[in-house]
Amino acid sequence: MCGIVAYIGDKPALPVLIQGLRRLEYRGYDSAGVALLNGDSIERVRSVGKIDFLTDKVKTRPPAGTLGIAHTRWATHGGVTEENAHPHVALDGKLAVVHNGIIENYRELKEQLAGVNFVSQTDTEVLAHLIGRHYHGDLRSAVQQALAHVRGTYGLVVMHADHPDQLVAARLGSPLVIGIGEGEHYLASDATPILPYTKKVVFLEDGEVADVSRAALETFNLKDETVAKHVEEIDWDQTQAEKQGYPHFMLKEIFDQPTVFQDAVRGRYDLTEGTGRLGGINLTEEEMRRINRVVFIACGTASYAAMIGKYAFERLVGIPAEVDVASEFRYRDPVVDDRTLVFAISQSGETADTLAAVREAKRKGAFVRGIVNVVGSTIARETDGGTYIHAGPELAVASTKAYTNMVAIMLLYALQFGRLRRVSIATGQRLLSALREIPEKMKAILAQSDEIRSMAEEYIRHRDMLFLGRGINYPVALEGSLKLKEISYIHAEAYPGGEMKHGPIALLSPDFPVMAIMTRNQLYDKMRSNIEEVRARGARVILIATVGDDRAREISDRIVYVPETMELLEPLLNTIPLQLFAYHAAVALGKDVDRPRNLAKSVTVE
Ligand code: M6R
Repeated sequence: MCGIVAYIGDKPALPVLIQGLRRLEYRGYDSAGVALLNGDSIERVRSVGKIDFLTDKVKTRPPAGTLGIAHTRWATHGGVTEENAHPHVALDGKLAVVHNGIIENYRELKEQLAGVNFVSQTDTEVLAHLIGRHYHGDLRSAVQQALAHVRGTYGLVVMHADHPDQLVAARLGSPLVIGIGEGEHYLASDATPILPYTKKVVFLEDGEVADVSRAALETFNLKDETVAKHVEEIDWDQTQAEKQGYPHFMLKEIFDQPTVFQDAVRGRYDLTEGTGRLGGINLTEEEMRRINRVVFIACGTASYAAMIGKYAFERLVGIPAEVDVASEFRYRDPVVDDRTLVFAISQSGETADTLAAVREAKRKGAFVRGIVNVVGSTIARETDGGTYIHAGPELAVASTKAYTNMVAIMLLYALQFGRLRRVSIATGQRLLSALREIPEKMKAILAQSDEIRSMAEEYIRHRDMLFLGRGINYPVALEGSLKLKEISYIHAEAYPGGEMKHGPIALLSPDFPVMAIMTRNQLYDKMRSNIEEVRARGARVILIATVGDDRAREISDRIVYVPETMELLEPLLNTIPLQLFAYHAAVALGKDVDRPRNLAKSVTVE
C-alpha cells in the first residue's frame, strides 16, 4: 500500500523524509517522491523504482527546507511513471498533496474541474486541483470543502507555499498518525517513520482533519468543529510497527480483509440496477451476451478463488464455466474460441504458468481479461482489460486478503453478466445488499481469533487432517487445506463431502481429524450426513456452522460459528476461520509463518 511521510519543524526535512520512506519500504511501492518548501516555492523530486533512485536524484542538489511531504506509491490509477508519482501539485506548483486511498468519483470531479491541464492519470492529481479550486487563502478550509465533494478513501497531507508553518492532514479509511516532538511534528501513514523521533502520537480517526504547525496540533471534523484528541504513548519497536502491532504479516493481512474488501467493491456496483459495474471488462453489452463459455486460469489459492467464480457464473449467468490450473491449461491444447471469455486470476500478476496460459488463450482467439492485484504487472499488461482487486500489497507468502478480493470481483462480474441474461433486478439488489454486509460479518469472525487459536493448539499434535465441503464450500475446503499445509506443514487434503465414501473415508480414525464446513445452505442436510459418517469412524470433527445452528454442536468436537449470508457469498466468510486456524497452528508449531520453507511469493519460473 502507498506510504506517507511529512515533517514540519526546524531540522532539515529531507533526511527525515527519506529515512521515513525507507522505513515504509516494507509496504511495497513502485515509485517515490518528495516536496519541500524551499524559501517561497515548493521543490519537488520524484522517481520511478527504488528510493535509492530518488536519493540519487537529490544527491547533487538536495532540496532545502524544514517542511515537506513525501510518498511511496503503489499504483492504483495509472501506470508506474514519474508523472503519476506523488506529490501531486496544483495552483502552478504552489500546493502539493500526498494521498493514500482511492478517490472513487475522480472521473466526475475531473469533468467538473474544467480548464485544468492534468498531467497524470491519477485520482490524487484531481484531488490536488479540487483543493486548489477551494483555496482562497485558508488552507484548512480548502481541504475541508474539497473533501466534502469526495467519495472514496483517503489519508492525505497538503502543503502550500504561502503557508510556511502549516501542514493539513485528513483521514477517511486510510490511516494517518501524527508524532509530537519538541517544536516539531511528524506525520505518516503508520508509526514506523515516526518511532526514531518520538513515541508520543495522535491517531487521526475517519472524518478528521489535522491542522499542524511547528508548535501546535489542532484537530477538526469536516464541518470545522474542534475535535479533542488523546495523545498516546506507543512502545512498539520497528518490526512491530511495520506489522501495525500484529506479530506476523499474515495475521495483519487476515485482519485487513474487512477494509480491503470494501476497497475492492467500492464504486463497482449499481444498487439501483442490481448489477456489477466493472468497466475494465472492455466488452460491449452485445459482446458480453455473445460469450457462451467462461474459463478461469490460475494457480494455487487463485485457482480456488476461481472455482467460486465458476459456481457464480453457472448460477447467475447460466453458461458453462470451468477452472483450469494454468500449468495444465498451457500444455493441454485447450479448446477456446472467440465466444470464450478467459479470466486470468493472479495476486502477483507475474506467475509464470498463468502468464503462459494467458498467451496461449490469446493465441487461440479468446477474450482474455485479468483479475490481478499488482498494478502494472505483466499479466495486467498482457490481458486486454480486467480489474484490479485492490487488496494492497500482500507480503506473507500465504495468500489471504487477495483471495477474498478475487472472489468479490468474480461475484461482481458474474452479476454484471447475469443481469444481461437471467438475473432479475430484485435478485441483483439482494445479492449486493448482502455483499455490503460482508465486512461487518467478517469482523464478527475475526473476533473469534483467540478461540480458534485454542482449537489449533489442540489439533497440532495430529500429522494429517481432512477438509470437507460441498458445493460452493468445496473450494473453501481446498483453500483451508492449502493454507494449513503450506505454513504449518501438517498434511492436509480436501474432498467434496459426497466423494469421501469413494476412498478417503479409509483414512479416518481418532488420529485423523476432519474440518468440515456445514453452513446452512441447500446442501446442509447432505453435509450433515457426511459428518455423521465421519463420526461413525471415530474421527474428531471441527465444524464451521451458521450462527444459531445449535444442533451442529451435537455432532462436533469444536465449532466456529459464522454469520449467515447468501449462499454464493459464503466463501467470503467461511474461509476466514480456516485462515486463522492455519495461522495459529503454524505459530504454535514454531514455523516461519510469513516465509514458509520452499515457497516463494511470486512464482515466476515454471
Ligand atoms: O500471484 P498468484 O496469485 O498468481 O500466485 C498463485 C499461487 O502461487 C499462490 O496463490 C500460492 O498458492 C500461495 N502461496 C497460496 O497461499
